Amino acid sequence: MEVKMAIKLSNRCRLIKPSPTLSLSAKAKEMKDAGIDVISFSVGEPDFNTPEYIKASAHKAIDANFTRYTNNAGIPELRQAICEKLLRDNGLKYSPKEILVSPGAKAAIVNSLIAVCDDKDQVLMATPYWVSYPYQVALANAEPVYIPTCEEKGYKIQPADLEKAIKENPCSKVLIMNSPSNPTGTVYTQAELSDIAEICIKYNILVISDEIYERLVYDDAKHISIASISEEMKQRTIVINGVSKAYAMTGWRLGYAAGPGDIISAGGMVQEHTTSCVNSITQYACVTALKEEDDSIEKMRVEFARRRDFLYEELKKLPHITCFKPQGAFYIMPGIKWYLENNNQNIKTSDDFCAKLLDKYYVALVSGNSFGMEGTVRFSYANSIENIKEGLNRFASFLAELASGR
Ligand SMILES: Cc1ncc(COP(=O)(O)O)c(C=O)c1O
Repeated sequence: MEVKMAIKLSNRCRLIKPSPTLSLSAKAKEMKDAGIDVISFSVGEPDFNTPEYIKASAHKAIDANFTRYTNNAGIPELRQAICEKLLRDNGLKYSPKEILVSPGAKAAIVNSLIAVCDDKDQVLMATPYWVSYPYQVALANAEPVYIPTCEEKGYKIQPADLEKAIKENPCSKVLIMNSPSNPTGTVYTQAELSDIAEICIKYNILVISDEIYERLVYDDAKHISIASISEEMKQRTIVINGVSKAYAMTGWRLGYAAGPGDIISAGGMVQEHTTSCVNSITQYACVTALKEEDDSIEKMRVEFARRRDFLYEELKKLPHITCFKPQGAFYIMPGIKWYLENNNQNIKTSDDFCAKLLDKYYVALVSGNSFGMEGTVRFSYANSIENIKEGLNRFASFLAELASGR
């Protein structure tokens, strides 16, 4: 009998694991479907519906039979609307040729990485990082290099650490910046971005600046794009943004990249031979989203701010929990180290902690390990105040149980 040889997966695919945030949300949903009263803080999307004015525009697109392939890089009206947005909100002047519309910010990042990375090129990023960055780098056959940050310094990359990482990793080509950040909610100031920009210019580093949480900033924090630091910096930055978070449009799948024309057009080629254009109806509705914004967007931001304040104040009251106050996005990342070191339940890692919390108290958090930050957990506050209150009560009971048995 003929023996069939198993087909080996590519090295790049063997490096890739499922997104821990998506798999946790799936497990929490499974438990919910089985009738268990789970409170999930693992979701990475607004819990609001897409605003009516955007939905109405999508209906119009269907009725007008705007349902065929479009230009791969995005319809001209949308690329023009994105240019207007970047000028209005970020002081950045681009032409439509410097814009690539992709199926989500995720795809915009991957297209950009594939456009610029060769084998063995190194891509710098802060830890904690957004879960997908290391895998996106692996898909581009490049290697991630991690720059540690800490709670005491607001989880921000320190210029000296960036310079050290570049010197120690001579194949460094790209730095991924994410402000406001997932998972920490940190927002870089203009001065901090200037210091980082100076080093990137000195060492010829391209910055992929993921600004997907731009609209969700609180108190006096202000979103600044690193591309706006100087014309020189703009020439070495790819700005990534999209509609998922600001407009509650995660399922519509639209993001974009803005940057130097040669890189944008190379990324466009990658897209042309993989996904082609973004869904035509989504593109049509996004022109409306960007050009005719109503007050529903600001209302969502104000509600996120209210939840952040509540969650932060309550977490601060819990003994032995450390907590950085996020200035943006919709995540908060408290430190749980004391509990990992002081329990008799063999809970030693953030993964153990989250698994037990879900199994026993039906609360889903994402382990800091998923973001390269052991000793922490991430809450998403894209959840109602009632759920946040109930989830926090259960979280506090779990902490008390751990502390009592030590
Ligand atoms: C930091 C960051 N970048 C990008 C994305 C993906 O955005 P999109 O839905 O536009 O692909 C997410 C989603 O969670 C994110 O947290």
